[in-house]
Amino acid sequence: MSDAPTVAIRVLHGPNLNLLGTREESIYGALTLAAIDARLAALAGELGVAVTASQHNGEGALVDAIQGCGGGAFAGILINPAAYTHTSVAIRDALLAVAVPAVEVHLSNVYAREAFRHHSTIADVVVGRLMGFGPDSYLLGLRALVGHLARGG
Ligand code: DQA
Repeated sequence: MSDAPTVAIRVLHGPNLNLLGTREESIYGALTLAAIDARLAALAGELGVAVTASQHNGEGALVDAIQGCGGGAFAGILINPAAYTHTSVAIRDALLAVAVPAVEVHLSNVYAREAFRHHSTIADVVVGRLMGFGPDSYLLGLRALVGHLARGG
């Protein structure tokens, strides 16, 4: 057994993702957010990392949660800012402020949807982006983030 501290990953879900399972099922699927979090927790166990997940409808609450990742509290952030992806300078600034490696995920392929979803305020400040694979976007994103951190962040 290694004595190395467990790598802590913060998972952040943005507005309306609490409604997964009933919300626009043809786009977002039938899985609930709790089910996605359970899959993430199971994968985290396999990868030997710890995930702490929460969902926030408010932009300020997401900013507060990102700020809470600084100072070594978390090694990485897996974030789906949902609608704030397309509008939020505050979330972008918070990610830059804490300087914690982040991966952006989306259930849907935002480029196959309305033009206003094609812009992300955080696209150039995250390590990478996964989208279009439904809940697997999160699982692929977690794998990619953990791999990135294992290579030295
Ligand atoms: C989303 C895509 C966003 O455009 C949308 O506002 C969401 C969910 C996704 O996961 O596909 O709420 O981030």
